[in-house]
Amino acid sequence: MLRIVVPKGRLEEKLTEFLQRAGYFLQGDSSILKQSKDLRCFMTRPFDVPTYLVQGAADIGFCGTDVLLEREINLIQPFFIPTSSSKMVLAGPIGKDLPRGEKSIATKFPNITRRYCESKGWHYRIISLKGSVELAPIAGLSDLIVDITETGRTLRENNLQVLDEILTIRIHTVVNTVSYRTKRGEVIDFLERLRKVVEDAEAQKPERR
Ligand code: PRP
Repeated sequence: MLRIVVPKGRLEEKLTEFLQRAGYFLQGDSSILKQSKDLRCFMTRPFDVPTYLVQGAADIGFCGTDVLLEREINLIQPFFIPTSSSKMVLAGPIGKDLPRGEKSIATKFPNITRRYCESKGWHYRIISLKGSVELAPIAGLSDLIVDITETGRTLRENNLQVLDEILTIRIHTVVNTVSYRTKRGEVIDFLERLRKVVEDAEAQKPERR
């Protein structure tokens, strides 16, 4: 029995659909635990996915580049799951230049933001938030934000513009190092089935011009 950890939220439906297409028919009345004959599937907050793997409570998980870099965690990452592209960006109020001196930046990603500011050689102050980061410049809490944008809607609605792209976010399959040794057959079989589904989905996408 493999233990899989899936991030709740915008990717949950897509990942569950991929698992279904790979032959895992997950069932359960609970929104946090679903099972099939061969899988136990835990649904958790995206930021908590690596914890399940590192602590040995899950064998395989799905995790965004943002979470892996923020938590500075190294796990085996066999392949990516294609999703619509989201990016982590530096953003600020439309029409305002980058502040010249110290820059105050609100974010859910303090570690990534610190490394980014240091790479720029900026004087900076990070304001760590748990959500609704786009509110910070409106409320006068920060000059800038570092946040994820996908459709761009949240930024537009809050009169914010992208000032710089920090990273492209991809969804990685991540594997617990111990499970990779002790459940090798099951892990490889799961990954191969999933890889096939992912490749088929990619092949069916209309060609980009
Ligand atoms: C992210 C981000 C924005 C939103 C941007 O939050 O923090 O709020 O998505 O997406 P858009 O460009 O399509 O509007 P997410 O939904 O990942 O979750 P959270 O707010 O719970 O952190």
